[in-house]
Amino acid sequence: MQSIIVVGSCNTDMVIKSDRLPIPGETIIGGSFFMNPGGKGANQAVAAARLGGKVTFVSKTGNDVFGKQSVVLYNHENINTEFIFSDSKLPSGVALINVDAYGENSIVVASGANANLKPADIEIASKAIEEGDIILMQLEIPIETVEYTAKKAFEKGKKVILNPAPAQALSDTLLKQIDIIIPNRNEAEILSGIKVVEMESAQEAAKVIAQKGVNTVIITLGNKGALIFDQGEFNFVPALVVEPVDTTAAGDTFCGAFSVGLAEGKSLIEAVQFAVKASAISVTRMGAQSSSPYRTELAHF
Ligand code: RIB
Repeated sequence: MQSIIVVGSCNTDMVIKSDRLPIPGETIIGGSFFMNPGGKGANQAVAAARLGGKVTFVSKTGNDVFGKQSVVLYNHENINTEFIFSDSKLPSGVALINVDAYGENSIVVASGANANLKPADIEIASKAIEEGDIILMQLEIPIETVEYTAKKAFEKGKKVILNPAPAQALSDTLLKQIDIIIPNRNEAEILSGIKVVEMESAQEAAKVIAQKGVNTVIITLGNKGALIFDQGEFNFVPALVVEPVDTTAAGDTFCGAFSVGLAEGKSLIEAVQFAVKASAISVTRMGAQSSSPYRTELAHF
C-alpha cells in the first residue's frame, strides 16, 4: 500500500440547511444549523484515511480551539498530524455553508491560517513529501505553496494529484508537474476556456487540459459520473443514482477515495469506480467529514 500525503486546508464548517439558498440582501428563517470539520484538504485526508489509506496531512491551523480540536480529530482518524502547523497570529479557517433542499450549496471561506501555509512549511515537511508516494493537493492554500510542493514532488518522481478547487487559472509550469488533475465542470472550464455542458464539451476540455502537460484528466460531472482522459483515450464511469441530501465535499470524498484506489494498486478506471461509489454515499448525508464513508460501508452499498 502506497502512502498518501495531503497538502491542503483545514476548516471548521458552520452549516445551515434551509429550503433554498438566500439571494443577496435576503434573510431566510427556518433553517437548521450544525458545525462540522471541513476544508478541502482535511476532507480529502479524512476520506482517504476512512477508506484505509495511509495518510499524512500537511496543513496549518490557528492557535485556537478549532485548530486544537482538528489535530485531536485527525489523530483519531489515524492520520499522521506531525506536519499540521499552528499559526501564532491568524485564526483557524472557517467556512460558512448554506445547503438547500436539493443538496446544492454555497460556501464562503475565511481562510485564516490556511493562507499562511507557506513554502517554508513545506520545507519543514519535506521528509513527508520525500517518503510519500502520492501527493494530493487542492487550491485552498496559497498557489505559491502548491507550486513549490508540486515542483519538489515532481523532482522526486512522486505521483502528484491536483484537485483544482476552488477554481483558478493555473500556470503551464504547474500543470506540467501534475500527473492527474481532477476538476469539476466549472474548474475544467476555467482551465480549458471551454464551457463544459455535456459529454462532447467535457471531452474537448479534457483534451485542452491534457495538452498543457497533465498526464491524466478526470472531469467529475456531478450526478452524471466522471470522464477519464488518459493516454489519448476516453473512458466514462457513470454515477450511482442516489437521493442527494448535501453535495458538500462530494468532490473531496471522490479525490480521497481515488487516491486510496491508486495507492492500493487499482487501475485508473477501478480507482474512479471506487471514488464514484464513495462520493455517492457522501451525498446521501449532511456535512463534509460527517458524510465521508468508511471502507465497510462501501462493501455494503
Ligand atoms: O469542499 C467542501 C469544503 O469546502 C468545505 O468543507 C469547506 O470547508 C470548504 O473548504
